[in-house]
Amino acid sequence: MNIRTLVPCAFVAFCACSHAPVMQSSSVAGVSQSDFGKTADGNSVELYTLTNAQGLKASILTYGALVTKLEVPDRNGKLGDIVLGFDNLEGYLAGHPYFGATIGRVANRIAKGKFTLDGKTYSLAINNGPNHLHGGLAGFDKRVWKAEPIASSEGPAVKFSYRSPDGEEGYPGNLDVSVVYTLTAQNELKIQYAATTDQATPVNLTNHSYFNLAGGGDILGHDLTIHARRFTPVDETLIPTGKLQSVKNSPMDFTKPHQIGERIAQLKGNPEKGNPGGYDHNYVLNSGTGELAPAVRVREPNSGRVMEIFTTEPGVQFYSGNFLDGTLKGKGGVVYQKHAGFCLETDHFPDSVNQPKFPSIILRPGKTYTQTTIHKFSVE
Ligand code: GLA
Repeated sequence: MNIRTLVPCAFVAFCACSHAPVMQSSSVAGVSQSDFGKTADGNSVELYTLTNAQGLKASILTYGALVTKLEVPDRNGKLGDIVLGFDNLEGYLAGHPYFGATIGRVANRIAKGKFTLDGKTYSLAINNGPNHLHGGLAGFDKRVWKAEPIASSEGPAVKFSYRSPDGEEGYPGNLDVSVVYTLTAQNELKIQYAATTDQATPVNLTNHSYFNLAGGGDILGHDLTIHARRFTPVDETLIPTGKLQSVKNSPMDFTKPHQIGERIAQLKGNPEKGNPGGYDHNYVLNSGTGELAPAVRVREPNSGRVMEIFTTEPGVQFYSGNFLDGTLKGKGGVVYQKHAGFCLETDHFPDSVNQPKFPSIILRPGKTYTQTTIHKFSVE
């Protein structure tokens, strides 16, 4: 779709004739809004674009509270879109592997979609082999959220809200969720999540953006550092075994920068069981204090773009786009091949509800769930 800022009358008239969507500025500086179509059941979807003083742009849809575009400069100051996605709502509605989306109620896998809480066993939607993945058949990534631009001293911001009703995808309790995206003056995309409930329930929220700091091609040449000495090994259906294993002397070690592609072939997966190999692992971050701390640094040598991630979360799922297989056509008609993007999903560990030794993801009435993750962009 065309993205336009508020424009002179003559141009507005042109847009109306050609039925192209027109961006409207909201009352909050640096936030504009446009229509992005309707879902199959007739819900209107809007696109919000945040622009900071340096010209960085982040576009977020009310469908899935998902990031469709993130434009950041390379070392020559040229803006480039560094996330995978689609040009129009049809692309998102047709089904996709969580491009840019807010994931909930519980990110990643829950073994066999079952867990027991306060003596009661719950059965969740099964949507990934034998397991529950990323909130189920219609997780938060497929819901239409309410949006409200907010005046923040840090930069342009939009708050997305959603009420997940009791029983949705099998989860107990009405959960009120909000996600605030802020594009700060320090060239950070800051994502702040909050949730409250009226019954005890698991909650584990994250963002599933697929990054490619080169703006195209594959991501194998990106240099990656993950501040984690351990990871959670998984079984053949990608459920953690419960162990925390050292990354030392293995292709899992990103404590010092390594190219993503350097050792990826050693991670063979189990293609017969639907695991194509490559990185799809939860790292146990060294910090683990609940305070905002450095988690990841990624550098793309040709563009010079650098992304640093800071989070309050104990883990980050590093996924190297192994399931992308050239069947999806994204923005500008580009076909997304294997490893066209990578995800760094900051959250609690997979299957935490069934792993007593992992940090708990249970939220109880009267308490507020929060998580903050910052993506900071620079060049070198
Ligand atoms: C997560 C999972 C992957 C895959 C992607 C979506 O990163 O860990 O296994 O399901 O989401 O394709």
